[in-house]
Amino acid sequence: MRLLPGPLRRRREPAPAPTDGRPDGDLRKGHEAVALEHEREAARERRREAIADVPIAVVGWLDERTGAGPFLRGFLYRKVPKGTNWFYTLGSATMFAFISQAVTGVFLAMYYRPSATQAYESIQHIQNDVFLGQLVRGMHKWGASVMMVLIFLHMGRTFFFGAYKYPRELNWIIGVVLIVLTMVMGLTGYLLPFDQRSFWATVVAVNLNSSGPIIGPYLADFLRGGAEFGATTISRFYAIHMLLVPGLIAALIGIHLYLVAKLGTTAPPWLKAEKARDLAKEEI
Ligand code: HEM
Repeated sequence: MRLLPGPLRRRREPAPAPTDGRPDGDLRKGHEAVALEHEREAARERRREAIADVPIAVVGWLDERTGAGPFLRGFLYRKVPKGTNWFYTLGSATMFAFISQAVTGVFLAMYYRPSATQAYESIQHIQNDVFLGQLVRGMHKWGASVMMVLIFLHMGRTFFFGAYKYPRELNWIIGVVLIVLTMVMGLTGYLLPFDQRSFWATVVAVNLNSSGPIIGPYLADFLRGGAEFGATTISRFYAIHMLLVPGLIAALIGIHLYLVAKLGTTAPPWLKAEKARDLAKEEI
């Protein structure tokens, strides 16, 4: 199925037949050569056409089977309010930071060993021996802070633009869960290098958790994998850090974006104020 109008390629004009004063035999040979060349050119053209049609055919094939076309068109071409500015890119920037964390995390996971006796050495190995290991680890470590900063800035934007109000309360609540999960990523990731600083910082953090009301002690036991820090603690933190929480975050980002596409974004507050002033003038 073709979705786009005819191909926009340049058509070649056929080469003119030789009409110089050469003898008849030469002329016939010349005609044959030109005809052969035309045939070859036509075959090349057919091949080019077939190649150019492939992506369109693939998109059409997928569209017919998933019906994703109208959804994607609605999502990509949706209208945004007048006055939309750079502050509205903070959500997408947060998402980019998350994707970068996921990608660098996958590469780190190929070399990291979540065991109390091997974790520290595996990090040293990533830093000193693995090709681009230092860069990837640096991106993951600093990227975590970047994501924290961006998520808070994005939350600030939605708060100061009044985007938490009706009908976007649910998206705000999902956002709050996302910010808590991002902090859990920070906490669980901090232990993984398993050096003195990460170990004792995590001991303090888990002890703080245990002093919380009602669920505090249970939460601390769950995180430690028992009453004391032990061999299971690090593998538990690793599983939470690389499987449980990223899965939850990815799913919640999906719902968050669906709601953004469905409800649209809020206009900047100064435009709302202008509109209210204009309406008040009209009433007078
Ligand atoms: C992983 C974290 C997050 C990602 C990837 C994300 C992504 C996005 C994106 C792409 C948008 C649309 C564009 C924009 O306004 O920037 C958006 C809108 C929104 N986000 Fe987030 N967000 C995250 C966390 C949060 C948090 C922590 C909150 C608040 C507690 C929040 C509340 C909202 C609200 C209320 C909107 C609607 C904005 C409007 O209507 O103008 N989000 N988010």
